Amino acid sequence: MEEIFASFIVLATLALCEGRVVKVPVGPLVRVEGQAVSLRCDVSDYEGPRDQDFEWTMLQAGKELQVVSTFDSAYPDTLLRDRVSSGDISIKKLSDSSVELKIKKVRATDSATYRCSTPSTDTTVKGNYFADVALKVIGDSLRVAPSIPKPVVSEGDQLELHCNTTRAFTEHTSLSVTWSHKKGGSPASEILTFGPEDKVTVATGSAQRYADGGLRLDLRGGGFYGLVLSGARPEDQGKYVCTAREWVRQAGGSLDKILEKSEEMGTVTVKPTANSLQVTVEKNTTLNMEDTLNLTCSVAGDLASLGLEVEWLMGSGASASPQVVVRMDRDGTVTGGSAQLALSRVAPGDFRLVAPKVERSNSGWYSCRVRAWLPQSSSKWYQAAEMTSNPVQVLVAQLEPEFKVTLSAAVSPQFTYDPTELLCAVTDIQHLRDGRLGVTWLYSNALPGDTSATTETIGTLNELGVLVAGTTYQQRLESGDIALSRGEPNVFRLRLLRTRTQDMGEYSCSVSAWTPSRQGGWEQAKEISSTPIKVQWSPKTPVLSVVAHRIREASSAGSTFEMSCHVTGQNLQNPGYSVLVRTEEKSGAASRKVLSLNADSVLQLEEWTEPGRVDSVALEKTGPLEYRFRLYGAQLRDRGFYYCEVAAWTREQGGSGSSAGSASGTRGGGDWTRVVSAESNKIHISFEDTGPVFNVSIHSDQHRVAPGETAKLQCIITVVGASPNTGDVSFEVQWFQSPIRAVENGGAEPLVSMDRWGVVRKSAPAANLSADCSLERSDAHTFTLSVHGTRDADAGDYYCVATPWLLAPASGAWSKGRQLKSQPIYLSIRLALWASMRLPLLCGVGAAVAVGLLSILVGLICAQCCCRNALHTPRSTNKLMDMEMD
Ligand SMILES: *[C@@H]1O[C@H](CO)[C@@H](O)[C@H](O)[C@H]1NC(C)=O
Ligand SMILES: *[C@@H]1O[C@H](CO)[C@@H](O)[C@H](O)[C@H]1NC(C)=O
Ligand SMILES: *[C@@H]1O[C@H](CO)[C@@H](O)[C@H](O)[C@H]1NC(C)=O
Ligand SMILES: *[C@@H]1O[C@H](CO)[C@@H](O)[C@H](O)[C@H]1NC(C)=O
Ligand SMILES: *[C@@H]1O[C@H](CO)[C@@H](O)[C@H](O)[C@H]1NC(C)=O
Repeated sequence: MEEIFASFIVLATLALCEGRVVKVPVGPLVRVEGQAVSLRCDVSDYEGPRDQDFEWTMLQAGKELQVVSTFDSAYPDTLLRDRVSSGDISIKKLSDSSVELKIKKVRATDSATYRCSTPSTDTTVKGNYFADVALKVIGDSLRVAPSIPKPVVSEGDQLELHCNTTRAFTEHTSLSVTWSHKKGGSPASEILTFGPEDKVTVATGSAQRYADGGLRLDLRGGGFYGLVLSGARPEDQGKYVCTAREWVRQAGGSLDKILEKSEEMGTVTVKPTANSLQVTVEKNTTLNMEDTLNLTCSVAGDLASLGLEVEWLMGSGASASPQVVVRMDRDGTVTGGSAQLALSRVAPGDFRLVAPKVERSNSGWYSCRVRAWLPQSSSKWYQAAEMTSNPVQVLVAQLEPEFKVTLSAAVSPQFTYDPTELLCAVTDIQHLRDGRLGVTWLYSNALPGDTSATTETIGTLNELGVLVAGTTYQQRLESGDIALSRGEPNVFRLRLLRTRTQDMGEYSCSVSAWTPSRQGGWEQAKEISSTPIKVQWSPKTPVLSVVAHRIREASSAGSTFEMSCHVTGQNLQNPGYSVLVRTEEKSGAASRKVLSLNADSVLQLEEWTEPGRVDSVALEKTGPLEYRFRLYGAQLRDRGFYYCEVAAWTREQGGSGSSAGSASGTRGGGDWTRVVSAESNKIHISFEDTGPVFNVSIHSDQHRVAPGETAKLQCIITVVGASPNTGDVSFEVQWFQSPIRAVENGGAEPLVSMDRWGVVRKSAPAANLSADCSLERSDAHTFTLSVHGTRDADAGDYYCVATPWLLAPASGAWSKGRQLKSQPIYLSIRLALWASMRLPLLCGVGAAVAVGLLSILVGLICAQCCCRNALHTPRSTNKLMDMEMD
């Protein structure tokens, strides 16, 4: 104030010195189109009348227009006269020495330099008589475009308030943006104002938040003005308003608001954390002593920016006031925990309370209290919600093991010696902890209607897994015939490899649970028996049938008989068959065993002991169930009925009590047990008693012989059919020559014969022609005729006649059989050429010799005559000649 006054003094002094002073506001003045403008003009230090006159002119583009004057109503320029007369432009005397130019609604065309002039009333022209002020009229271009990108936020989230503000003209003006909040029906309260001239003004209600960094300006330029509220709170809910103002700095230094625009931004909803938060604890539990308590407190909701503080509470009753047992701070610090009670965060929203080895004192009602904290500022938090779960009951008690026992038959026998397998399954095991299971298998010979059933222990697998055999089953368990085992998980197995008939009955398993005792051993905590299971099979009677078929008929003695036996077995398990061929002379008579094939296919001659006929019977297996019997060279005494006796065998395995020494019938350590046997139908061998049949044949190596040579002819007797024993037959043999002898002797005289005792008789030499014959028996059935020194007359047909004599075995008498005559054989003598040539040749030679001798004689005689030497003729020469003649 003193300064202003001082400067006024200075000015006044200057004015005194300088003369009249006309004063207008310092420009330029900026006004918005349509607004009212008043320009004041003062005059001072003037002389003359007190009351002064004023004139306003406007200088526009070098032209000067008269606007209005205080004394001349005709003063306004024609362009402005209408506005002046309508009062839009007026001049108002404020005092004698001051005036005001008023434009009610300034126009853009009104931008100009306005000059205020005062006509001189001074004695001397001194000072200034006018003053200029520039007026700028600008258009209303201020635009506000607010937006809230996310009008619904969770408590603690960030809330953004965008207030875009634009304007066309920025020279000489300054902008301010104000964000206000309107809660309910109350008037809007300012939060923060940015500007004018980049100044930040925070309302008192928001000062603390601003200081804590909870309010932040987001100025990106280009007309973007954003306010960011971090950590939205429920009280931030409501309507928001954005106000933009345009300011002009006045000559006096003050800022004048020339424009203001307000826009509603929209409504913001803040979801309180407390509403979304859920706290649950699972679940009522009953624990055994020393079990582990494991409770989880689950916090659900939007936990992103929350700080959680968790407390576990325990009360002795559902309604009793609970005590905090352990607590975890926002930062994870646990207080009140111990080795007996641990609290940990296992997931963002899961807090686990674990108490190993619970005691009775751990029983109670457990609940979980959660406090949710939200950041208020960078360093401050505020509690947004608190919630407590429903309590769950934890009961700690001494519990005994629980389980279920189920007995089932995995393999049931259908036949004796089939395997049996029973499974004893232990399920739903609870509270066993470090305990173990043992099993005892029991057998009861409970037969229908039997009241005196006894129960026996087969064996026990005890808690240590050791097998303890029952007294009566010890041997079978040791031999492996019965096996007790344990499978996973908790399945016990009883297996009978070969179930005997006496094993039929009821089986059960009794499972016992063992827990470690305080003394260090094991004590039985519980025992549960299964319902018994019946092992039974209806023993099916084995059925065996045998059918015999004739394959080859023995129609005569010596022929081959063949029959097959087909076996059909039913209700037999892995049977082996033995076959015995029997014969009986008459149906129903005592039978005789012929030969047999046992179950191991070993062939054995039974009562077929005839020497030399051992190989004449055969029995072989020709198919799985087919056997073939053959009898070669059937004899009279072989006649009768033949049939197969078949027995079915099953093998008893692992029989430790098999009698030593009985080697037959054992194979692979198992004994065959005869199960059932059957006889086939009977096949009859019958052919007529024709006796032995003989055939006589004749044979010679040489049919043509030279005269004088020996011819050999064989009479061979063959036996067709049943051959009698060597001593039971003998033959009479006669040789005949035909036709010569037949003609001479009426056909009845044999050449040579041999009776049945072997005596040879030659017939009386009836003719000189008869050569020297002999007959010999070269083997049992061959009688050889030798004709020595054959002659022409020996040529001819030869045949032999044989008569078999048979010894009847019963009576010992010999009977003569039918005479058999062989086919003839022709013996020829190579005679004709040699016989015809011999005589002429000898005569020729004799004549020639005689002539030769005669000539020699003549010669000798001549010589004798001449030399007188007489010669003696030897007789020997004649003799030689005679011999030659012979
Ligand atoms: C505000 O300005 C920004 C940046 O210029 C723009 O992306 C946004 O769309 C504007 N908002 C409105 C409501 O005009
Ligand atoms: C726990 O047991 C109580 C009664 O003992 C019962 O009211 C409550 O519903 C149970 N809670 C659960 C989660 O089962
Ligand atoms: C507690 O229970 C959870 C799930 O039921 C399990 O994953 C966790 O291992 C348990 N903790 C203890 C210590 O037994
Ligand atoms: C007897 O032998 C002859 C010659 O070898 C033969 O042709 C004939 O069939 C035989 N007779 C009998 C009954 O065997
Ligand atoms: C030889 O045959 C003739 C007549 O055929 C007879 O007279 C003579 O006695 C026979 N000689 C001998 C040795 O049998």
